[in-house]
Amino acid sequence: MSFEMPTLQGALIRAEAKLGASLGGACRIAVYHEMRKDLTRIVGEIEDERFRSELRYSERELTNRSKRRGFTCFIVYLGERPVAFVFGFDDPEEGAYFSDSAATLIERRGVGSVLTALETLYCLENGYRSEKMITEDLDESGRRLVEYWARFGFQVTGRDPKIGVEMRLELAPEAVKALYDRYLGA
Ligand SMILES: CC(C)(COP(=O)(O)OP(=O)(O)OC[C@H]1O[C@@H](n2cnc3c(N)ncnc32)[C@H](O)[C@@H]1OP(=O)(O)O)[C@@H](O)C(=O)NCCC(=O)NCCS
Repeated sequence: MSFEMPTLQGALIRAEAKLGASLGGACRIAVYHEMRKDLTRIVGEIEDERFRSELRYSERELTNRSKRRGFTCFIVYLGERPVAFVFGFDDPEEGAYFSDSAATLIERRGVGSVLTALETLYCLENGYRSEKMITEDLDESGRRLVEYWARFGFQVTGRDPKIGVEMRLELAPEAVKALYDRYLGA
C-alpha cells in the first residue's frame, strides 16, 4: 500500500463532524457488538418507519441476529435522537461480512453513504476481504437500491425472486480508501 489507511477511530470523528454539519446538530456515532434491549428498540423503530412490514425484523429476529459471530452495529445519533443504523455479521463464506440492514430517518443528506464508508473501513480493519448484502432493484417508495449500492462499488452476484438481489464488494484497500476520501475526506 503506497498510502496510509485511515483508522476507524479517526474516521468516526470525521463522520460525526461531517454529519453534524450536514444535519445541523451535534452528531455521535456509536459502535455496538451486542444487541442490548435499547438497541433492539432503536433499530426496530427506525425499521418501522423505513421498511415495509415484511422486511422488518421482529425483536426476536434482531436478538438472534445479534448473536451471530462478528455482530456489529453502527448507530447515528443527532443530539439524543437515534436517526440511522447499519448492522451486519460474519457471512458463512470465510473472510466475508454480511451487511444485513441499513436505514436512515433523514435521507439524501449523506448519512447512508457515511455509514457505508465506515462499515467498509471497519471490515478492512478487522480482516474481512469482502462485504455481501441482499437488496432489491426497486423498493415500494421507488428507491433504486441496486443503483444506490452500485455507487459504492457493490456488484450484483445473483438474483433470486425469493431472496432478492445479491451484491458483493471486494474490500481492496484502494477501494475502501476511495470511499473514505469520497464520503469522509476533507
Ligand atoms: C438507502 C438509504 C440507506 C440511503 O441513505 P441516504 O442517507 O439517503 O443516502 P445518501 O444521502 O448518503 O446518498 C448517497 C448517494 O446515493 C444517492 N441516492 C440516495 N438515495 C438514492 C436513491 N433512492 N436512488 C438512487 N440514488 C440515491 C445520493 O444522491 C448520493 O449520491 P452521491 O454519492 O453522488 O452524492 C436510505 O434511503 C434509506 O434508509 N432507505 C430506506 C431503507 C433501505 O432501503 N435500506 C437499504 C436496504 S438494502
